[in-house]
Amino acid sequence: MKQQRIVLSGIRATGRLHFGNFIGAVQKFVSYQGGDNLGMYFIADWHTLTTEKNPNAIRNNILEVAKDYLAAGLDPNQSIIYAQSSVPELMELSWYLASEQAHKQLVMIPTLKDLLKKTDGAETGPNFAMISYPVLMAADILGPQAALVPVGEDQVPNVELARDLARKFNNRFPGIFTVPEMVQDMVRIPGLDGEKMGKSDAANAVGISDSLEEIRRKYATRGVTDEKRVAATDPGDPYNRCRSVYPVHEAISSDEVAHRTIAQRCVAGAIGCRECKGILADRLAEIIGPFQERRHTLECQNDYVRDVLHEGGKRARVMVAETVAKVREAVGIELF
Ligand code: TRP
Ligand code: SF4
Repeated sequence: MKQQRIVLSGIRATGRLHFGNFIGAVQKFVSYQGGDNLGMYFIADWHTLTTEKNPNAIRNNILEVAKDYLAAGLDPNQSIIYAQSSVPELMELSWYLASEQAHKQLVMIPTLKDLLKKTDGAETGPNFAMISYPVLMAADILGPQAALVPVGEDQVPNVELARDLARKFNNRFPGIFTVPEMVQDMVRIPGLDGEKMGKSDAANAVGISDSLEEIRRKYATRGVTDEKRVAATDPGDPYNRCRSVYPVHEAISSDEVAHRTIAQRCVAGAIGCRECKGILADRLAEIIGPFQERRHTLECQNDYVRDVLHEGGKRARVMVAETVAKVREAVGIELF
């Protein structure tokens, strides 16, 4: 059989997915399924612990995200779906990686740097796991020998760090890791206020379990559009000034013509924002309708979902164990 290309990515279990995760990330994961690709999609529950302290929330969210994955179309027959913590060897690998990782370079990563700056002078800053977050992430990627990692913009420095670590190890121990390619093809869906979409319960988020009426109401009352437009006949600037509606039109329409038409009508003052938001809400509902049906069926199938995670965890573990055995031996650690 032809060698499969491992496509790997993960999401933290901070809560139900919002529409931005769904369109921006999970649908992309689904699109990589098939052909020669072996998808490895996991729930980064250890990474969630850096910020989420409620054990029940962690427990619940893992199953919730797994259900969202499955309802979105990730198929356990084509992809390995698992929880990070099902592969304890990742923690061991992250230690070997950490031993090659300069602390200085780590704290230069923009997200960490900001975090540290904000708490500078305070008695306690970010927890230690937060600092080593990118190293564990490198283990997630290098452990299964991923070849391709689709991520959003905010994760780029973290994946770069993983690539660096792979190269460093490969210099010492040729061929020990696959140096992963990164694809930054996840679209960022703005929230209703035009800023980054928050968790599914945040005020600026569209949840993927929201009903059509809710989506309609949210855009109608809170969607930020070109503020310079007062009447529907005022010419608008969809590209620069419409912060929450046009970018979503652009991100979700599968054909160029659909969103170009919207833009032209906006520029010409031939469509009102209310109508435009209505069209958007309809399109969103079309996309999430089928998802919601499948999600509803999975609601009471916890045993099935646990089974999927169990099987996925076993498969991922075999793959990671193989890598870790090599690394262990290479660095001089023997299991007695
Ligand atoms: N840090 C990622 C996020 O917050 C989640 C993640 C953890 C991840 N490990 C990963 C993504 C490995 C890609 C590859 O979204
Ligand atoms: Fe945005 Fe549509 Fe209003 Fe133009 S018509 S400003 S694209 S909501």
